[in-house]
Amino acid sequence: MKNIVSQKVQEMQPSGIRAFFDLVLGMKDVISLGVGEPDFVTPWHIRESAIYSIEEGYTSYTSNKGLVKLRTYISHFLKKRYGLEYDAEEEVLVTVGVSEGLDLAMRAMLDPGDEILICRPSYVSYGPVAELAGGRPKFISLSQKDGFKLSPEVLKKNIGQHTKALLLNYPCNPTGVSYTKKELAAFNKILEKHGIWVISDEVYDELTYDFDHTPFSSLSGAKERTVYLNGFSKAYAMTGWRVGFACGPRDVIQAMTKIHQYTIMCVPIVSQMAACEALVGPHKPFEEMKREYHRRREFVVARLNEIGLSCHQPQGAFYAFPSIKRTGLSSGDFATRLLKEKKVALVPGTAFGPEGEGYVRISYATSFDMLKEAFERIEEFIKK
Ligand SMILES: Cc1ncc(COP(=O)(O)O)c(C=O)c1O
Repeated sequence: MKNIVSQKVQEMQPSGIRAFFDLVLGMKDVISLGVGEPDFVTPWHIRESAIYSIEEGYTSYTSNKGLVKLRTYISHFLKKRYGLEYDAEEEVLVTVGVSEGLDLAMRAMLDPGDEILICRPSYVSYGPVAELAGGRPKFISLSQKDGFKLSPEVLKKNIGQHTKALLLNYPCNPTGVSYTKKELAAFNKILEKHGIWVISDEVYDELTYDFDHTPFSSLSGAKERTVYLNGFSKAYAMTGWRVGFACGPRDVIQAMTKIHQYTIMCVPIVSQMAACEALVGPHKPFEEMKREYHRRREFVVARLNEIGLSCHQPQGAFYAFPSIKRTGLSSGDFATRLLKEKKVALVPGTAFGPEGEGYVRISYATSFDMLKEAFERIEEFIKK
């Protein structure tokens, strides 16, 4: 009998984060700096509006593209926030988080043999999703020497005959790196010259601390070559609601909608109603969360450098990516021993690609008190 699991899926590696956190399960008193998820609960006004929408009987399917009301709010929000012009009817698709947006964009764009450039260390899903879509991920290795930043020269060098798209993620999970408008404009010039598409994962845009975030599609001429992905998971503390959105030229949004209508149908209506409230309701709770992440970033980076784990300054998201090379341990051994000996869980850098060897990812989406205690334990571990 043939194997029930396809060859493609057999070859796929399970996420390194999952593998590591299976170890954490069942252990008591562990402080987790591992998960990429806000420690805040979704603000009450959003939860309340969702409860109210259920009471009102909002229990049906919606248009495949998402509620017109939500798409309109997204379009208005992007116009007000960034000056972006997206037509709510034709250029916006509501997705099951950025996760679905990534999958749809790659499936809609990539033909077999098409290459998509992906910088590493990177978020865990990019490579596998590109492969499932039939494309060929071409990884660009970034290193601490360059501040884990892509440069125009390195971008140029990696463009080849089969390159169809570049996947950008900024602020970046796991490094926290982001790019200024000037840096992005230099990439845009090169990509324009070679006619290369961009899938821009900007799910952490609101959590940018040192300068204003620039959406890639706001750059001159870039909108027609960019699929802009964003969502409510991070800055709005809404991971469990599973709402995101994709904006782009109508052809590609139409193609993505075709796949979405057969596979997902639509995002749950209650989640869409909650997302509406997130966009038009009070913004103060989000500002407070951002301030708190900022405060934690300062603390985490200062403590890391104090205990001798060198760390560049993350400009956004809620991660630090320090080097653990001076301990002489591999990333995996460091994380496993820290967990067993001091009950602090963080993610080995190798979960984000081989370039992450010698690093660990620390999520500061954890309360300040927990962070303080975790760093006491990390310091003891390092001293030992
Ligand atoms: C860079 C990046 N992109 C996408 C996602 C998925 O986000 P969502 O919850 O919107 O599917 C994550 C989640 O951790 C992420 O870090």
